Amino acid sequence: MTETSKKVLLSGIQSTGRPHIANYFGAMKQYVDLQDQYDSKIFIADLHSLTTVQNKEELSQNTLDLAIDYLAVGLDPKKVTIFKQSDLPEVTELAWIFNCITTVPYLMRAHSFKDAEAKNKEINVGLFDYPMLMAADILIHNSDIVPVGKDQKQHLEIARDTAEKFNRVFNTDIFKMPEPYIVDSVAIVPGIDGQKMSKSYNNHIPLFSTDEEVKKLVMSIVTDSGAGIPVNVYNIHKLFRDEKYLDKLYKEHEGKYKALKDALAEDIIAFISPLRARREEIAKDPEAVREMLKNNAKKLKLEVDEMMQKVREAVGL
Ligand code: AMP
Ligand code: TRP
Repeated sequence: MTETSKKVLLSGIQSTGRPHIANYFGAMKQYVDLQDQYDSKIFIADLHSLTTVQNKEELSQNTLDLAIDYLAVGLDPKKVTIFKQSDLPEVTELAWIFNCITTVPYLMRAHSFKDAEAKNKEINVGLFDYPMLMAADILIHNSDIVPVGKDQKQHLEIARDTAEKFNRVFNTDIFKMPEPYIVDSVAIVPGIDGQKMSKSYNNHIPLFSTDEEVKKLVMSIVTDSGAGIPVNVYNIHKLFRDEKYLDKLYKEHEGKYKALKDALAEDIIAFISPLRARREEIAKDPEAVREMLKNNAKKLKLEVDEMMQKVREAVGL
């Protein structure tokens, strides 16, 4: 297949801190697995991060770190266009246009907003409007598929609704319908307490943890007191080993939680070590990484400009 006939894959992660193993299995691994098949665009959602990270040094460091993480997990910069969201500010213009055709009650139904509200958090306008910026990210690049974890499914539906509404209101067919790409077996990766793994629940295992961190976190996986299979340990272990192997192992060590946790820690460490080593190598040359981001933004700018001209024309701006 030639470059131009490939379908567009797009996805992004917020630069809010170190990625964890659920980010990897739920999303990043799919980016790597699909990089030959699609014209892939993977970005660092720094504008989205600004809804929570409001510290100059932290945000810019997180952004560089995530670019390095992407490379370390195996995204090939020759195949994938890795870029920084804020390098293409046209996306905020498109989000504004989407704001104007979207109602407040509609956005109030977003899980992200409802969760924040349920927790009595102070909700900034950026957080409320988060799904519109995400819709703009997806639609501005003419994306065909968007690999994400299940927690982002509703945001994808919002992006699709928004494409449909824009096309209807302005009587055009500019936007195509993006499809979510969610792998069932890792749609919701559990954390060390058995709930969905999430930075905000502090139940996560960072992807580039040290061996010591892994051991400590694995030992703190919550297990019920009865004998038998420690479900939370098993469910994380499933990410690293096939179930046939695990069923045998867990049967052999029935009731021996410590031995099973040791086995899990060993498997996680074996998985993480080469990634960590690669990350250390890449991190030695941050300038090269920044240069890559800058060049990719320049390349994408032309496509995005073309799209925005069509949008402005359709709207009458
Ligand atoms: P975030 O850290 O919220 O920017 O998430 C980055 C990507 O990881 C998104 O595609 C999420 O859907 C995915 N993700 C985050 N947490 C999980 C989880 N516990 N299970 C599966 N995927 C996840
Ligand atoms: N909201 C996504 C998350 O928290 C990050 C994101 C922003 C994204 N824009 C996107 C993901 C566009 C896919 C496509 O994980």
